[in-house]
Amino acid sequence: MPKHSNEYISHGDLQDLTGLPKRVNLGDAKKRISGQVSAGKAHIEGDMELGKKCVTALRSSGEFKRATQGFHSYPARLHPEAARLLLEALPGKTLADPFCGGGTLLVEALIAGRQVFGSDLNPVATLVSTARTALLSQEQLTRLSKELDDIHQIAAQAMDDKRHVYLHPAILKYKSWYKTNCFDELACLHDAIRNYESELKPLMQAIFSSLVVKYSLRASDTSNKVVYIPRKNGAVLRAFKEKSKEYTAQLAELQTLVPPGTAPAMITLADARHPNFDNVDTIITSPPYPGTYDYLPLQQLRQAWFNLDMREKEEIGSRRAFKQVKAAYEAWLKDTDNWIQASANALVKGGHLAIVVGEGMQAGKLLRVAKPTIQAAEKAKLSFVTSASVERFDPATKMKKIEYILVFSKP
Ligand SMILES: C[S@@+](CC[C@H](N)C(=O)[O-])C[C@H]1O[C@@H](n2cnc3c(N)ncnc32)[C@H](O)[C@@H]1O
Repeated sequence: MPKHSNEYISHGDLQDLTGLPKRVNLGDAKKRISGQVSAGKAHIEGDMELGKKCVTALRSSGEFKRATQGFHSYPARLHPEAARLLLEALPGKTLADPFCGGGTLLVEALIAGRQVFGSDLNPVATLVSTARTALLSQEQLTRLSKELDDIHQIAAQAMDDKRHVYLHPAILKYKSWYKTNCFDELACLHDAIRNYESELKPLMQAIFSSLVVKYSLRASDTSNKVVYIPRKNGAVLRAFKEKSKEYTAQLAELQTLVPPGTAPAMITLADARHPNFDNVDTIITSPPYPGTYDYLPLQQLRQAWFNLDMREKEEIGSRRAFKQVKAAYEAWLKDTDNWIQASANALVKGGHLAIVVGEGMQAGKLLRVAKPTIQAAEKAKLSFVTSASVERFDPATKMKKIEYILVFSKP
């Protein structure tokens, strides 16, 4: 996009804009519990041996910072050790995750030497997954470090005269979510990346994206509480530099862990009901738990910085839809039927589908997930293999919820 494009406006003209909102509602948010809250009683039905492995996966907890797994937050992330254990329990050559989120499974599958296919409806998910699974040569890694240094330098220089820094108007609505110095530094970084010619640009954008919420007044990715953390001038630029170093080191580690000859991950923006992959032997995935998160609106700040197109109407199981509990639960059941049928179609004979899913909660009532998921798999002519579950205590509602791993095979 050239600097003079009509769509973009100069940072130098920002003072002239009036009527910016003081507060912007970023939508309801609630933390989903997974991995962090210790698991209670377990239950297995079907294949005991596989079921026990799934229970161990569900009980995964604690820090796990292998390779790029620590790079960039993503709501409701699967525990990386759970991903690793599930891949070990379901061996194969290929792995697809149609709700790939931040790409936890994709990273572990690359390390296991699988051919990897990941997709998600959320462009932030595909950006993060792309960055976390990047397979680069030594030459590309060295170039990435150099180009990130360039970006830092260009942005630092732009801070002295911001008239030539251009922003998409979409972000102006959210300017009040930033302290001025943080906003300005982010704007200079964003513009420097936007104008930089490089095949590695998506990786630079992902680093930028990792700072967008942290240096706003928003408490976290999943909380819209306002927090005032003092940020000195230069804090964002310094964070970009540190994050760049950390990320390139994580990428270097990833290259050493992925077996030589492993194909690069194919990551696409797609609705799980219409996946872009076919003929895979294993699908492991974690669809949205009903009524738990608004995955797309939660990314409003990133959506605005990158002017992303969010297909919010296609989001499955969103929390906002559950304001009408009965209709939303019925829609979730139908969507579950549809994405499971599409996944079943994409499996080879003898292939496996493993689903990590937990109960939702609305108006003090649990939204059951196991039975309808098993029924959807039956309708798609998949055979039931095992159901493993653990109870988790939800501190927010003070109730127990059950989280499952359900495994099916294609006869
Ligand atoms: C539980 S999260 C997946 C988290 C992922 N396993 C990880 O470790 O980061 C569910 C994902 O489903 C995505 N999603 C919601 N509706 C979708 C749809 N119709 N098609 C594909 N993805 C969708 C959300 O954007 C979110 O990333």
